Amino acid sequence: MTQDELKQAVAEAAVEYILPMLESDTIVGVGTGSTANLFIDELAKHKAKFDGTVASSEASTARLKGHGVPVYDLNSVDSIRVYVDGADESNDHLHLIKGGGAALTREKIVTACSDEFVCIADESKLVKVLGDFPLPVEIIPMARGHVARELVKLGGDPVYREGVVTDNGNSILDVYNLEILDPIALEKSIDEIVGVVTNGLFAKRSADVLLLATKDGIKTLK
Ligand code: A5P
Repeated sequence: MTQDELKQAVAEAAVEYILPMLESDTIVGVGTGSTANLFIDELAKHKAKFDGTVASSEASTARLKGHGVPVYDLNSVDSIRVYVDGADESNDHLHLIKGGGAALTREKIVTACSDEFVCIADESKLVKVLGDFPLPVEIIPMARGHVARELVKLGGDPVYREGVVTDNGNSILDVYNLEILDPIALEKSIDEIVGVVTNGLFAKRSADVLLLATKDGIKTLK
């Protein structure tokens, strides 16, 4: 199977997984990226079965609306039953690196507001130790130099993601060469740097379930 076929398989598996949760008042949190896009396309086939969604990016909002799926402002909903999103890396504790698509801040906010976080990925994303994928950090633009110097002190090599402005009007530094042995501690340390909005470690709040598409079928990790 190609990587695209694996992504399609896990998008379909995610909809099967959440179908029993869908009721007329259910709000579904929807992530961002190529795997999340396939999930959106599958979820839309069931739009009559639930109330609507909260999306983690303008891109996902547009895709959902294109399918006629309602998208609510987060502040107008009471609760999100389940959040479904991809990841750039996961370890077997379901600590994640996210933000390859620059949507990490809204993704982390929607995750925090959701009862359950279902991560969907193909098997290439499962790693022993996080950090081969450069860790995205969303920053206030004027703090770029300061945050970069602090990230070097933490052992990383930050690189400015040229030309990218997040949905929140901020910049991204991608931090290379981190061997992330303690993701919860590093997530906290980076968040404490003045000028950091969010970092792409989802460790303090990890995924609750990882649906992993492999050549042998979908594996469910908890
Ligand atoms: C978006 O900012 C990211 O967190 C994505 O969820 C992550 O990059 C996975 O994207 P793909 O599904 O495109 O690999």
